[in-house]
Amino acid sequence: MNILLIGSGGREHALAWAISRSPLCKRLYVAPGNPGTAQCGENVVLDIADHGAVASFCTLQGISLVVVGPEGPLVDGIVDDLTSAGIKVFGPSKAAAQLEGSKAFTKELCAEFGIPTAGFGRFRDAAAAKAYVASQGAPIVIKADGLAAGKGVVMAETLAEANEAIDMMFAGGLGSAGAEVVIEEWMIGEEASFFALCDGAHALALASAQDHKRVGDGDTGPNTGGMGAYSPAPVMTPAMEARVMDEIVRPTLAGMAQRGTPFTGVLFAGLMITAQGPKLIEYNVRFGDPECEVLMPRLTSDIVPALLAACDGRLWSAELHWSDEAALTVVLAARGYPAKPETGSVIRGIDKAAALDGVLVFHAGTKQNATGIVASGGRVLNMVGLGKTVVQAQARAYAAVDAIDWPEGFCRRDIGWQAVKREREG
Ligand code: AMP
Ligand code: GLY
Repeated sequence: MNILLIGSGGREHALAWAISRSPLCKRLYVAPGNPGTAQCGENVVLDIADHGAVASFCTLQGISLVVVGPEGPLVDGIVDDLTSAGIKVFGPSKAAAQLEGSKAFTKELCAEFGIPTAGFGRFRDAAAAKAYVASQGAPIVIKADGLAAGKGVVMAETLAEANEAIDMMFAGGLGSAGAEVVIEEWMIGEEASFFALCDGAHALALASAQDHKRVGDGDTGPNTGGMGAYSPAPVMTPAMEARVMDEIVRPTLAGMAQRGTPFTGVLFAGLMITAQGPKLIEYNVRFGDPECEVLMPRLTSDIVPALLAACDGRLWSAELHWSDEAALTVVLAARGYPAKPETGSVIRGIDKAAALDGVLVFHAGTKQNATGIVASGGRVLNMVGLGKTVVQAQARAYAAVDAIDWPEGFCRRDIGWQAVKREREG
């Protein structure tokens, strides 16, 4: 069959790599794609925001399955529009994508269906928000309700910081995302990302991963989309996975179905593993980036039948198998990321890095021009190492990083530190 994948990041290169290996996939198109996805299929120029144009492309090219990578088009309703045009799409409807599109929506769902999460309040004016903060005390977490590209969360250690964040959001500092503000209890624990395929009624657990959101070594500096990740996350033992499925994922699916907005696609639960058990930090309605770059290399079975089963509401019949190996990705970012990445510099050594043992390179913000591969975004390359242990995967990923000649790029040097510490402590 012919498949269209939407997106252009490292996540989409990893998905394109996995989909293109499926015997079911005849032609893979990626819109708009990147130089990495061009090695797995054909990049096409399509205005993703124009759902009619995407539908026409699908009809013309005989596309049997569309896979949507990023959240933007999902929240904009691309699944609803393509489905109405008779095209099979993997991803949630606009209504179900509210699990990521609105933090308040998710918090209300948790409250209604008894899903463990941080205590919260939601506010539309600064005075009420500040009164709540004063009653709860610091530290406390202030969040813009809507999509804010990872910048909508302020971890306030003092009341003054909390009040400043409230003023910033209500003053329009995050645009319309901050018209409503959610204030949450600051949870303590270890974070993990957990992924499940969903068909509206059933969920199939994928695997766990750990992301590194802060830009600097030792988890310092501003939040980013993610500077590296590894899978599996050791904190997610089989017993913990079972709890997450029973206490968080299944009640969410049941609640969404009961409300008449069943969830289909990838449910990505950002979790805090607290002393009381797993609690939901937030949902995303798509694969994580860079988590996908470590999940796909560990998947030993064909992903396409599972995606189709999710679309067709027969996920109960699907099976996925995972390698016991660990995978770890280090993100190479352009200097200035996340505030103001400098683009246009030339990157050398990608083929040399990719040829190393147990290494995969996934492109994100790159462009091919006459000089070669140049940086075109904040997060630019994913250097993935595979190994019997996280220590080995980490060593391979950093060997790949060191094979790259790109003075204008940088990376964290401590990706995987928690897992490495656990392995060393045995
Ligand atoms: P979010 O965008 O909601 O995932 O939040 C970004 C990051 O902020 C998370 O990955 C956590 O590290 C942190 N965070 C968000 N909410 C909380 C909370 N209630 N308690 C502790 N940490 C939080
Ligand atoms: N890496 C976190 C995310 O994809 O949102």
